[in-house]
Amino acid sequence: MKILVTGGAGFIGSHTVVELHNAGFEPVIIDNLYNSNLNVLEGIKKITGKAFPFYEIDCNDAEKVRALFEKEQFDGVIHFAAYKAVGESVEKPLNYYENNLISLMVLLRAAQEFNVDKFVFSSSCTVYGQPEQLPVTENTPRLPANSPYGNTKAIAEDIIRDHVHSKPALKAISLRYFNPIGAHETSLIGELPNGVPSNLVPFITQTAAGLRKSLTVFGSDYDTPDGTCIRDFIHVVDLAKAHVKALDLLQSQTDTNYYDVFNVGTGEGYTVLQLINTFEEVNGVKLNYSIGPRREGDVEKIYAQSDKVNNVMKWRAEKTMADALRDAWNWQLKLTAEK
Ligand code: UD1
Repeated sequence: MKILVTGGAGFIGSHTVVELHNAGFEPVIIDNLYNSNLNVLEGIKKITGKAFPFYEIDCNDAEKVRALFEKEQFDGVIHFAAYKAVGESVEKPLNYYENNLISLMVLLRAAQEFNVDKFVFSSSCTVYGQPEQLPVTENTPRLPANSPYGNTKAIAEDIIRDHVHSKPALKAISLRYFNPIGAHETSLIGELPNGVPSNLVPFITQTAAGLRKSLTVFGSDYDTPDGTCIRDFIHVVDLAKAHVKALDLLQSQTDTNYYDVFNVGTGEGYTVLQLINTFEEVNGVKLNYSIGPRREGDVEKIYAQSDKVNNVMKWRAEKTMADALRDAWNWQLKLTAEK
């Protein structure tokens, strides 16, 4: 089965390409390299021993996307490509709505025209806002998004749901990711943020490597055991495998208008300080950090109830937070050594 992976040179996309190959799928990558790098393709090639077709295409370019669907005859699409910086989305909301939503519609139209019936979408736990009850299940009500970025995920889910409802012979799944961290255990692919990272783990590894002076922990007065935020940190390779399971589930669905959403998390919440302590322990390094004020828009605590994905997709997280932090550090060491 030939699968189009949009954003396949990105963090989650590249790990998913590897897992698709391991499971016998044929990935085809498109990426506009906005927040990724051609070196990633080398890493994928070293891990898998294969050079998968790569097209430098922006998913908003309907003509090029259409031409690609015509040429490649896909069996399914996994759509990662999107902007994802929460803070930037507040500054430039139109960029986010335009980029994240038009690309989705371009792909859905192409899928419809070329009878591609399987579609997996990268959604986010951000659609739950700060839930009243934890852990969050898929039935936990979505709350108004606290950023344009988050809103693009909620709107995208609605667009896919409504489109499937109109009976286009499309089966689709939205995966609501919690916090993906880590890198491939070979250190050949990992997270490669452009500029100053806004996410926690790349900021930690760059600080430990001496590229940044100090990490600021955003807030220590939250209602949590040590006062710092709680998140459900999931190893990126586990998350990548969930996409393979999602395709398997779509493939086995007899209902041609199937749509569903799944939380993809470990089911465990850890505080930011617990993560920092684990990072220091497993890697034997000291991290320079200080406590600072809260970051605007952060939710206090969130973690998944993962029963649905465990039971329906037969997927569960296999790696621990310690595994992910070891892999993230080894990846950083490799990046630093190459410089
Ligand atoms: C958020 C979204 C997630 C989205 C991601 C995209 C929620 C719950 N999560 O993740 O869905 O995909 O953005 O980027 O809305 N932190 C520090 N210091 C730092 C950086 C982060 O203390 O320098 C803390 C944050 O305050 C937070 C935790 O680390 O408590 C995780 O932050 P981050 O990695 O940015 O992810 P989220 O904001 O949880």
